[in-house]
Amino acid sequence: MAQRQTARSVSARKGGDPLVMLTAYDFPTARMAEDAGADILLVGDSLAMVVLGHPDTLSVTVDEMVHHCKAVSRAAQRALVVGDLPFLSYEAGPAQALASAGRLVKEGGVRAVKLEGGREVLPQVQALLDAGIPVMGHVGLTPQRLARLGGFRVQGRDSATAQAILDDALALSRAGCFAVVLECVPAALARVVTAALDAPTIGIGAGAQCDGQVLVLHDVLGLFEGLRPTFVKRYAELGAAGREALAAYAAEVRQGVFPGPEHGFAMDELLLDTLTVDGRPATALLGEPAA
Ligand code: KIV
Repeated sequence: MAQRQTARSVSARKGGDPLVMLTAYDFPTARMAEDAGADILLVGDSLAMVVLGHPDTLSVTVDEMVHHCKAVSRAAQRALVVGDLPFLSYEAGPAQALASAGRLVKEGGVRAVKLEGGREVLPQVQALLDAGIPVMGHVGLTPQRLARLGGFRVQGRDSATAQAILDDALALSRAGCFAVVLECVPAALARVVTAALDAPTIGIGAGAQCDGQVLVLHDVLGLFEGLRPTFVKRYAELGAAGREALAAYAAEVRQGVFPGPEHGFAMDELLLDTLTVDGRPATALLGEPAA
């Protein structure tokens, strides 16, 4: 088996082979992503939308994140499992961040956490690092602040916001984040940020010049039919394929085609003659066998 990825081994990939990160939310998706060669499994707060059916990421709780982190951690054998700190589980300060991250690590079994934000979350980042918890940063489009950012839109297109993203990413890298996600920023800006940081950048909607890429697994597989961001490439249409398969099952049940004899279990049917219902032979309840 290939060597287990750690925050340190991920960090060391700066400028090397591109890092592959995928979200995963449960045992089968984690196994699938790891078998496909993902270096990092992110239990993202996108869980809220693609698995739990919420309209945005805001309502997912630490309890829910812990539940899903446990399943992914049980599945992962080689990839680094990173747990997302959900909205309002760290913004109040370092103590809150430590309590929330502690739950993802101790109960959920993750080996690192991710949080959204730049210089304003440095005290939280520092507290986590001081406690020995590796931290992944996340700047650019930060879905937990969607209301303030004015919706899902590209960030850093003007000089002031581009500089702010660069400064935030630099601050996170200098504070000791082992990697920084750049979400939905122009490719040219991502290239500059990638060149400026010691930590690897992991892009989503940030062009090809980052040190790695991340996509939401349900988007890649065509399982999420809500938002369809332009930066997503769908590599399969499992939603459509799944519907077709389930419709075939439903039709076969209704037609009496499934289950066939090969899906059942045989017994010595003479034993049925020994069964009774209220003292009468149970087989008397059976109708005539179909012709
Ligand atoms: O929650 C998530 O899936 C994420 C990725 C999009 C980076 O944060």
